[in-house]
Order: sequence, then structure tokens, then C-alpha cells
Amino acid sequence: MSSIFERHSIRKYRDEKVPDEIIENLLKAAMQAPSAGNQQAWEFIVVSKDEDKLAISKMHQFAKPAENASHLIVTLGNESWARFPMMIEQDLGACNENILLQATHEGLGAVWLGFYPIEDRTLKLKEYLNIPDNCIPFSVICVGYPAVESDVKLRYDESKVHFDRY
Ligand SMILES: Cc1cc2nc3c(=O)[nH]c(=O)nc-3n(C[C@H](O)[C@H](O)[C@H](O)COP(=O)(O)O)c2cc1C
Repeated sequence: MSSIFERHSIRKYRDEKVPDEIIENLLKAAMQAPSAGNQQAWEFIVVSKDEDKLAISKMHQFAKPAENASHLIVTLGNESWARFPMMIEQDLGACNENILLQATHEGLGAVWLGFYPIEDRTLKLKEYLNIPDNCIPFSVICVGYPAVESDVKLRYDESKVHFDRY
């Protein structure tokens, strides 16, 4: 699958809106992810207003890419729906990667901004976006049309692979 090998984090975006149908494709890809017991305990907030993107870009020192993205997709884990709440972060990780891969496939640039489990970050996001207590504010994914050239390095390292025993 070429999107896996083409994907890399893009943090600068052109001033061009991503159409709604492409954002919907990213959300469809997200919800196609595997989850423990097929619990699908995820929810999403799509953020597109400039003032909101700016506020989120200031929530931590590595969140700057949010300012110039076309859209932010905030990924949430809803613990009330989860049959296996201890697995919810793994589900959300798979979900995030699906969004990044679909973004690559659509010709977009994207980056995953880390929030959970850093409490200072999750509290800010929760308060700003009115996220209820039963939802984990997992991450923010910035998407937009790339303003920088692609620069992908292959990372395969056979020394990290063990066969049969460590
Ligand atoms: C859990 C997680 C948290 C991350 N948090 C940030 C972040 O806050 N800001 C940022 O610019 N990139 C963030 N990234 C992106 C990583 O820096 C990036 O994936 C890594 O440097 C590898 O580069 P690549 O994505 O281009 O392959 C995060 C990635 C993950 C998986």
C-alpha cells in the first residue's frame, strides 16, 4: 500500500480549504479502524474556524501546525460506550493512523498532535471544546494541502526484527 510509505508528517499548509467530502472520507477511514471487541468507542470534533484553530495551536509547544491547517480533527474516546475501556487508546491509535493514511491518499498533508495522556493538554482541549467527562480527548489531527515538498525516508531496520525468540 503506497500511502504507508508516502505518509509523513506535514506541518505547513497552503491557504486552501479542504472540501467537506474529503473531510468525510477521512472520517470514514477513521471509523473503519479495528477496535477491541469492535467497540468503536470513538467520536470526532471537526474544527474549521480560524479562532478555534489558533486557540488550539497555543495549547502546547508542539501544537503550532494547528494554526494554519484547513481543518482539525479532534479524536475522542467515549468511555461510556466502551466494553473494554482499557483498550480505548489502542483503538484510537489505529483510528488516527487510518486518518493519516487516507489524508496521504487524498493528496493532503497531516500531522498528529499529541494530547492524551498529558493532563495539562487534555484539560485545555476538554474545556475549550466542551468535551464531556466520559470522553478522553485523545489527539488533534491537522489536515490541509501541503505547502512543503514531500520528504520520506524509509526506516526498515532488520536489526529490530527477531525470529522465533528474542
Ligand atoms: C503520539 C504522537 C504524538 C505526536 N505529537 C506531535 C505534536 O504534538 N506535534 C507535532 O508536530 N508532531 C507530533 N507527532 C508527529 C511525530 O513527531 C512524527 O510522527 C514523527 O516525528 C515521525 O515523523 P513522520 O510522521 O514524518 O514519519 C506525534 C506523533 C505521535 C504518534
